[in-house]
Amino acid sequence: MDASVWDERHAREDRLANREPNRFLVAAVTPLTPGTALALAAGQGRNAVWLAEAGWRVTALDYSRVALDKAAALAAERGVDLQIEHADLREWSPGRRFDLVTTVYLQLPEGEREAVWRAAAAAVAPGGHLLVVGHDARNLEEGYGGPSRAAVLYTAAEVAAVVGEVLQIERSETVVRPVEVEDGTRYAIDNLVLARAPLAVD
Ligand SMILES: C[S@@+](CC[C@H](N)C(=O)[O-])C[C@H]1O[C@@H](n2cnc3c(N)ncnc32)[C@H](O)[C@@H]1O
Repeated sequence: MDASVWDERHAREDRLANREPNRFLVAAVTPLTPGTALALAAGQGRNAVWLAEAGWRVTALDYSRVALDKAAALAAERGVDLQIEHADLREWSPGRRFDLVTTVYLQLPEGEREAVWRAAAAAVAPGGHLLVVGHDARNLEEGYGGPSRAAVLYTAAEVAAVVGEVLQIERSETVVRPVEVEDGTRYAIDNLVLARAPLAVD
């Protein structure tokens, strides 16, 4: 998908949901000791800003300039620092390493996403973590909301198979996210992989 499609979407959408951090990221990251963090496909910065508020030194990367402008504005509003990086992840390789790397709801098709997960794993410093949260393949038939194109959905096992080439998998699972709608609660099926880079040996 072209960045301009996301620019238009980010310009249109200004929901509260774009300001509240992802619940699975909050739960997975809270026990970790803050250090440097890289939020890939950071969108309007809800997770990056939450990380910065939790004491992480955060770089937020996205290919949508509209999203990054909103992320910078949210950071300013909340009084935290955010380093902003504009890049297309399909052509990106990490220039340095971070104690935490995250991707939340980056839904690229098969053939594109594996290289991004590999680059994300390569961006993790020794002893650091990679957290991937995505809309699960099962969500299309069994869950609520999320992308309607099967091609951009994946499973935790797919993520774990790729990032497990270089990282130790700590969690690899589907997770259920309640979504409040007008007439009640629906349930979205997401996936989560938390992986750790081995400590460097001298
Ligand atoms: C569903 S949004 C999720 C944003 C954010 N992670 C969150 O949870 O609020 C997906 C984001 O991925 C970004 N994105 C999609 N493809 C990308 C690519 N190839 N390179 C960089 N960013 C990309 C979009 O611009 C969008 O901001």
